[in-house]
Amino acid sequence: MDIRPDVELRGFNTLALPGRAAHFATVTDLDEAQVALAFARERGLAVTVLGAGSNVVLAGDLPGLLIRVAIRGRALVAQGGDQLELRLGAGEDWPATVEYSLAQGWYGLENLALIPGTVGAAPVQNIGAYGVELAQRFVALEALEIATGALRRFDRGECAFGYRDSFFKRAGRDRWLIVSVTLALCRTPHLVLDYPALRAALAEHPPGPLTPAAVAAAVCALRRARLPDPAVLPNAGSFFENPVVPAEQAQALAARFPGLVTFPAPGGRVKLAAAWLIEQCGWKGVARDGVAVHDRQALVLIHRGGGARALLALAAAIRASVRAHFGVELIPEPRILGGHWS
Ligand code: EPU
Repeated sequence: MDIRPDVELRGFNTLALPGRAAHFATVTDLDEAQVALAFARERGLAVTVLGAGSNVVLAGDLPGLLIRVAIRGRALVAQGGDQLELRLGAGEDWPATVEYSLAQGWYGLENLALIPGTVGAAPVQNIGAYGVELAQRFVALEALEIATGALRRFDRGECAFGYRDSFFKRAGRDRWLIVSVTLALCRTPHLVLDYPALRAALAEHPPGPLTPAAVAAAVCALRRARLPDPAVLPNAGSFFENPVVPAEQAQALAARFPGLVTFPAPGGRVKLAAAWLIEQCGWKGVARDGVAVHDRQALVLIHRGGGARALLALAAAIRASVRAHFGVELIPEPRILGGHWS
């Protein structure tokens, strides 16, 4: 493994934002990850861990060592009855993993088809879509402590998963490099069809039993219709979390704004559709200064060459208008690197 100095990162983030890493390493196994961490430790360099760069906003240059995790590998580590456990290298591609599991007849990931990114990044923000979150399929992960290089296992409870949230975004932030993730899958399908848009899409499914492959195909079609391909229109998926508010606040908003889109959230709280709030404020399809709000999904911001400053200014303007109009604070979903949210 070579650790390269001064590497341009435009090709390593799906928003295609420019920026440079003072040092850059791609690690393909545990030993290489240990070597890279030791390199940073010996020189007192800050470490940034990157997967596919599909959920980051690169706001400037990174002074320390950027470690791109490309650790591959798939292993069946336990099985019995209907259940099995699949351990995956953190650098495995998530969409390819979903396809692979379906092809093996191992079910449970179908609603999470086509989410861009790596397996190792999935638990950090507890990826979710169409009524399923990673946490529901999660058994454990292994991670290296950045400060010491020590390997540790985290079970589901220790990961403290929440909606787009985990220990690794809070107390564990910037402290761990995830090397593997173990998921629990089933040999018989247990389809999750609660999400309204997915149910509606499958209503047109031809008669006969619904299969996990059909669910995955419907999810892929929904995603392709709404979410831009980063290779064509650079983006980081949803740019804001869906705000979770107390039930009373949601009721008051619904009374004032007919058509308010809500989903039930844990603890009797209510999740608002951020895309709806943004669209109501007139932002859908707005393009300015080389950045834009996607014209088919208002929650997705697109970088068209304007750079991080223009993107952050657009995000700040959207947050301000949603705050002014609805009294709701939007929280950015991607991780910001080399800068801060305004
Ligand atoms: N909507 C609008 N305007 C739009 C888009 C959507 O009013 O421009 C409304 C829709 O009518 C719908 C509601 O908002 O009633 C929800 O829209 P959608 O089903 O597209 O989902 P979302 O809440 O915008 C979330 C996730 C996505 C995930 C989808 C499907 C977050 C932040 N985003 O988006 O995840 O794919 O649900 O489950 O939770 C991501 O995290 O990057 C991501 C793409």
